[in-house]
Amino acid sequence: MNPEKLPANASGLEPDSIPRHVAMIMDGNGRWAARRGLSRVFGHVEGHKTVRRITNLAGHLGVHYLTLYAFSVENWRRPAEEVSALMELIEHVAHEEIPSLCQENVRFNIIGRLQDLPEPLRLELERDMELTRDNTGLTLTLAVNYGGRSEIVDAVRRLVADGVTPEQVDEQAISSRLYTADIPDPDLLIRTAGELRVSNYLLWQIAYTEIYVTDTLWPDLSEKDFVDALLAYQKRTRKFGGLVS
Ligand code: FPP
Repeated sequence: MNPEKLPANASGLEPDSIPRHVAMIMDGNGRWAARRGLSRVFGHVEGHKTVRRITNLAGHLGVHYLTLYAFSVENWRRPAEEVSALMELIEHVAHEEIPSLCQENVRFNIIGRLQDLPEPLRLELERDMELTRDNTGLTLTLAVNYGGRSEIVDAVRRLVADGVTPEQVDEQAISSRLYTADIPDPDLLIRTAGELRVSNYLLWQIAYTEIYVTDTLWPDLSEKDFVDALLAYQKRTRKFGGLVS
């Protein structure tokens, strides 16, 4: 991104303390559509455009990891039409957007129970991860068929399968068996659309993450809004349970 195209408030960012990992709960697509008398699907289509804009901006600001909650294990309970639309948007990313992500040097990653996704989509996502594996820019992780509790259940199953004894179980033994084993914990979690909950997202990983909630609905989230979240983050004092020295 051309520096002139960065939102004006980006000049207030401290370049040395850009959060390394930003996780996002992209909420409010349904409300965005309802306010316009449209079906919820339109909200997701518009929300997808925000994904493109924010991914691009995050990379240019020097964020290393961006993790987006695209589809939860609970989202299967939504009407079939909405589930199909969400799957189609994820398929669109998987089929159409990898070349442009590659051009931007983005490493594409997926977390979640991939084994329960339709087989062609799973294969495509796995191929995309392989194709972009050596890219050195932003790591864009989509959480698809993801649940924080199922992730922990899966990690415990791996511990058991690996024959780990009770004495060998520690935080590292668990962290290294999560879907995010090769990703640092998020520094900042941004939730749009105003709800004050974490919705089964990255439960283990957000133990010391700074949380920022904005009332703005996801499709309306602007580049300026994203930078506002980073500016608010830079004003926080992180203590990780200790004292500030
Ligand atoms: C929550 O809004 C959002 C989702 C369940 C899906 C997020 C999906 C997108 C942003 C579009 C596609 C993204 C990718 C990465 C392809 P909601 O529908 O629960 O909104 P509401 O609370 O206003 O009803």
